[in-house]
This record gives sequence, structure tokens and C-alpha cells, in this order.
Amino acid sequence: MSPSANFSPDADTSRISISALYTGHVWFRHGLSLPELYSFKGKLSYGALAPVNALIRAVAGADIETFLLERHLIIDELLSRAIEQQGVCQVIEIAAGMSPRGACFMRKYAHSLRYIEADLPEMAARKRRYLSQHGLLSDQHQVAECNILAQEGADSLSVLFSSLDSSKPVLVITEGLVNYFELPVITDFWKRLADNLVTFPKGIYLTEIYPDLQEHPLYRWVQFAQKVVGLLTRGGYPLHYRDDQEIEVGFAGCGFAEIKVHNPASYYDSLPLKKLEIPSAVRIVEAAV
Ligand SMILES: C[S@@+](CC[C@H](N)C(=O)[O-])C[C@H]1O[C@@H](n2cnc3c(N)ncnc32)[C@H](O)[C@@H]1O
Repeated sequence: MSPSANFSPDADTSRISISALYTGHVWFRHGLSLPELYSFKGKLSYGALAPVNALIRAVAGADIETFLLERHLIIDELLSRAIEQQGVCQVIEIAAGMSPRGACFMRKYAHSLRYIEADLPEMAARKRRYLSQHGLLSDQHQVAECNILAQEGADSLSVLFSSLDSSKPVLVITEGLVNYFELPVITDFWKRLADNLVTFPKGIYLTEIYPDLQEHPLYRWVQFAQKVVGLLTRGGYPLHYRDDQEIEVGFAGCGFAEIKVHNPASYYDSLPLKKLEIPSAVRIVEAAV
């Protein structure tokens, strides 16, 4: 499938934005968010999925939320390390939705960090409204419009990157985005991303991926959860790559030079994650150009 088959640069993917209200409420419920980002619509969407989550949890011992928390806390951890150990001082979080990460990291690293949260125009306007109502935006912390499908123009990656200082390291995050797109579409985005990152002295990308782990003991339930997310967002939710090695090869093919695939199980002792009896369904990718 060519990138243009289902997702032309002007395809409207705003149907996916409902999922940001859902995940925003998950962060809130687990004490990871700020009161300023509470949304009643988020609570409603969370309630709508609660019975399905309870069913998956009863059968599989883990649910959609378990893997959301794994990805979120590990991305936070990797971002902290990049800031403290690798001199990252500029962050772009694409598809930030209602995530508290920008506000939380700006509280912690106010004097050394520039943070740009980006999303489709409607979601960006919502986030800007929430943050500015509480005085949380500044020259150092901004919200911008970005559409990962846009090859050029105001919402494109190159315009987003043009506001950064190209003499300093940069880190880009996408969380909860890549599995909404077919592989050729998301790899087209990753290639453009790598092309932009390479113009900085250091360029790192963090994302999570739900791989197609066909040998997973609860693969049927992974597929069920996949269908539920697809229904909520009125589209597909394709799983990408069969294992960690395929992920590494895939990212190398997009222009990334150093690729680490993090398995949540290796963080059980250092982060407050639920220890699962089954393998995790998610991986966190740290890729540098
Ligand atoms: C599951 S939410 C993730 C929100 C946030 N990162 C989190 O984890 O809570 C998916 C996000 O992708 C955004 N999105 C959908 N299509 C997009 C596109 N073409 N370009 C950029 N963002 C997009 C949605 O608006 C939404 O905020």
C-alpha cells in the first residue's frame, strides 16, 4: 500500500482524537496528571471502556490500561535520562493530546528546557486552552499545530522544527500515535522525522509500538483490545513488526543509526509497574540518528 492509498496528506484523522481524552483520564486517575488537565469527557470515555477493560483484565491478568501505564512511565524515564545525561534541552511531543508530560517536565526543568506540544489543530486548540487558562504556557512551553501526514505547509514537520535552535540537541516523542497508521504511512513519517533530526547535533526519538506478537500466549485478547481501540476511534489499529529485531531493522531502514527496544519487563524493579505473569504487549523504542 502506498502512503497515499488510505492517508493522503489531507486525510482527516481527527477521529483518533477521542482517544486522547481517554488516555488523558488514565493519566489523571493514576496521579500522573495535573488537576488543570481534568476533562469530564475524558472521564466519560474512560467509563465507556471500563467494562471491556474489566473483561480483558479478568481473562488476561492485564488490560489496555496496564500497557498504557508501561509505555507512559518508561517514556518519562527515558526522557529524564536524555535531559540529565545527554544534554537534551528541546523537546517536541507530537500527538501530545491531553498528556501531562509537557507541563510536568516544565515544572521540573523550567530553566533548562524548551517544550513544544503539537497535535492536530482542534486538539492543539483544546490543549492550548487548558494550559493557558492556568498560566502554564510561556516562550519555553508552547502548543503548535502538526499533522504527521502533511508533507509541507504550516502543519508540517519542517515548519515545527524550524522554530528550534539547530545548534542544540533535540528529542521528539510520539505516544499513542503510530499504531493508528498502516506501516507504509508511519514509516514515511519516520523517514521525514529522521531527515529533520539529523540536522541537529543530537536527535533522539521516543515512541511506543504495539508489535504483532503472534506467539503471545494471549494473542487473541491482544487482537480483541486492538478491535476495541479501532471501534473507539472508528478506524484500524494495525500491529507493527513481529519482534524486537524487526523493529530495529525497520527503524534502521528509516534512517535511524542507534536503536534500542525497551521491554517493560526490564523496568519492573525500577519503575512502579505492575509485574505481569505474561509478556508485555508493548515495546518502547529509543532511536537516535
Ligand atoms: C491516543 S491519543 C494520544 C495522546 C497522548 N499522546 C497520550 O498518550 O495521552 C492520539 C493523538 O494523536 C493525535 N493525532 C491523530 N492524527 C494525527 C495526525 N495526523 N498528526 C498528528 N497527531 C495526530 C490525536 O489528536 C490524539 O491527540
